[in-house]
Amino acid sequence: MPDTLLLDNSHAGICLVTLHRPEVLNALNTRLLGELAAELERLERDDSCRAVVLTGSRKAFAAGADINEMAERDAVGILNDPRVACWQQISRFSKPLVAAVNGFALGGGCELAMHADIIVAGVDARFGQPEINLGIMPGAGGTQRLLRAVGKSMAMQMVLTGEPIDARTAQQVGLVSEITQPEFTVERAVQIAQAIARKAPLAVRLAKESLLKAMDTDLASGLRFERHAFTVLAATDDRREGISAFREKRAPVFTGR
Ligand code: CAA
Repeated sequence: MPDTLLLDNSHAGICLVTLHRPEVLNALNTRLLGELAAELERLERDDSCRAVVLTGSRKAFAAGADINEMAERDAVGILNDPRVACWQQISRFSKPLVAAVNGFALGGGCELAMHADIIVAGVDARFGQPEINLGIMPGAGGTQRLLRAVGKSMAMQMVLTGEPIDARTAQQVGLVSEITQPEFTVERAVQIAQAIARKAPLAVRLAKESLLKAMDTDLASGLRFERHAFTVLAATDDRREGISAFREKRAPVFTGR
């Protein structure tokens, strides 16, 4: 059992993963990142899990990399940092990932939230990349994913000043899809995950992959990928079932084939 995560499988098709280092506002140390990467790898293979919701506490989603752990690492330590492999593993997760963010999502915490496909934020959430205040810069995708999510000017402002933005601003710039009262953030994220979990799994997987392609490829290649994925889905049982169910005015029963 993981030490730094709480796992809740009580919602059908969904695994709710809660970061749990309350004494340090869920600071991301090697252990937590390793346990999260391992848990996502396990959920990747678990057919009963259709989508994952990732959350923290009411005060903090995560306040960034564990600064005490960082203080123990010199340049060589950073070069061989085991957390890099964890981040890579987390970024490969192919099922839908919804983040429910309350409180601080700073540094690595903001970068972790940006690994999610959808971010739902409590109205008191704060997103920031304060690494510049420590004489460093974001190192887990904070310059690349943030710029793609919020555009150049806001990404520059956040990374170069280190000042966080509030949930409303995060929604205006497109980092967050919905804002809720903090007590409902997880509930809303679970609802969204459940809505996705009811869809055809292969269509969900390929649609996610295709949308992510748009972040790192040119339009022509992205369109080629989309056409290919669309064609692959044409041969699935779930496409036949979806169309039949519509015409027979009933709910579809998707099997993932
Ligand atoms: N690492 C380790 N410990 C942390 C931490 C972190 N990132 N953030 C908070 N804590 C600890 C505090 O040291 C404190 O511990 P003690 O009770 O033992 O003193 C406890 O959590 C509670 O924090 P505060 O008392 O500071 O709470 P606050 O409400 O006054 O302030 C805060 C909250 C503004 C988030 C403040 O804690 C803070 O600025 N934290 C650091 C944020 C930061 O700089 N993150 C970026 C880290 S670098 C990074 O993330 C790089 C990367 O991934 C690649």
